[in-house]
Amino acid sequence: FSGDEPIYSDPETENAIKSAVQHLTERRVVAFPTETVYGLGALALDASAATKIFSTKGRPSDNPLIVHISSLSMLDSLLPPSYTPSPAYKTLMRAFWPGPLTLLFPVDPSCVPPIITAGHPTVAVRMPAHPVARALIATLGTPLAAPSANASGKPSPTRAAHVLRDLGSTGRLPLLLDGGTCAVGLESTVVDGLGEDGALRVLRPGGVTVEALVAALGDLDGRDGSQRPRVLVHQRDFVLGNHEVNAPTTPGMKYRHYAPGVPVTLLYTTTTTPLEINGDGDGGGGDGGSTIRRVEMDAFFREVQRGTSGRFGLMAQDESPLLSRARREESRWVAFSLGGNAEPARAAQRLFEGLLSLEEQCVERIFVQEVAEEREGLAFMNRIKKAAGTSLRIVDI
Ligand code: TXA
Ligand code: MG
Repeated sequence: FSGDEPIYSDPETENAIKSAVQHLTERRVVAFPTETVYGLGALALDASAATKIFSTKGRPSDNPLIVHISSLSMLDSLLPPSYTPSPAYKTLMRAFWPGPLTLLFPVDPSCVPPIITAGHPTVAVRMPAHPVARALIATLGTPLAAPSANASGKPSPTRAAHVLRDLGSTGRLPLLLDGGTCAVGLESTVVDGLGEDGALRVLRPGGVTVEALVAALGDLDGRDGSQRPRVLVHQRDFVLGNHEVNAPTTPGMKYRHYAPGVPVTLLYTTTTTPLEINGDGDGGGGDGGSTIRRVEMDAFFREVQRGTSGRFGLMAQDESPLLSRARREESRWVAFSLGGNAEPARAAQRLFEGLLSLEEQCVERIFVQEVAEEREGLAFMNRIKKAAGTSLRIVDI
């Protein structure tokens, strides 16, 4: 857990990591694998190095970066000397670090440059679990700032090839460490527990589920006289009509995000569609309107295919009749399985992979069926709602 010792799996990895460290030390960016998604790293404590992250990704400068550490002593170096983490934070760090959890801490502004925090009084920190990421940071010996290694607005990369496709031609990426396919497949959960009410606010759902957070905090009851804190999840939910304009999310969540180069439509199905959905007329055409179109399954397939000879992508869980229907129409549909209903972690892991591989197969549009908003399904739905924007349909299955 202390993570101070570099961990190398073999000499080839060791050499690759040493060369990555060389580039980083000379203030260049390097792409590397984490268990969530690939990251684009630069020295966190050097403003001129960190600036290159923004220019390479085309990232807006008001969107702060996560600082990655490999040990708790690195964490201490980022925070004001007077600060001690709450019992809840200690519990979460013990339970989920290293792993896909990012926590907000008060920042020591004399140490962390404002470009990292976008001027916020807090810094987001995470200790990744991927052995290559851990060895990279430990060998570097200083914290590594890293957003996902995609061009701003695109789905996050879960394989080295995705990074190359997005950033390879920028001329700004001297090195990419290939660590295979990311096991979690979408980004870390971002939690803010710094409020005076002691509640833990999930600013971005991610690899650590809300259920797991709540379960880990259950151990806290009574100990140190501390109360089990509340866990709050705020999501602006278009479909539920739950417009919480002031709901706290990360600064990054206000941007269009996670969208591949082809349009994406989110499909709700009547069995699970909340009753609050209104407007089952035929307005809009999916994009741009506020009316959600509702059709029966056969009509849906006919209508999508009408007037074009192109192919369409369909992503859904194995039990979905939409998926089997797409499989039967192979000449027009590319079916992409999100795994079984019972394993939402699989859907989360395959989401960006599916969007990116269907884009590469030149489909005209990608349809993604909703998954249940529980466990990893919450993060899945958070990302796909942003990718689809207002392009929503209801299909009777
Ligand atoms: O899994 C992950 O977190 C990946 C891997 C590479 O570690 N990184 C990642 O970074 O997703 P990025 O930059 O794509 O997303 C960081 C999110 C953004 O939504 C940003 O607004 C938020 O974290 N964030 C960063 N610093 C923050 C702060 N001080 N307060 C609130 N939100 C913050
Ligand atoms: Mg990102």
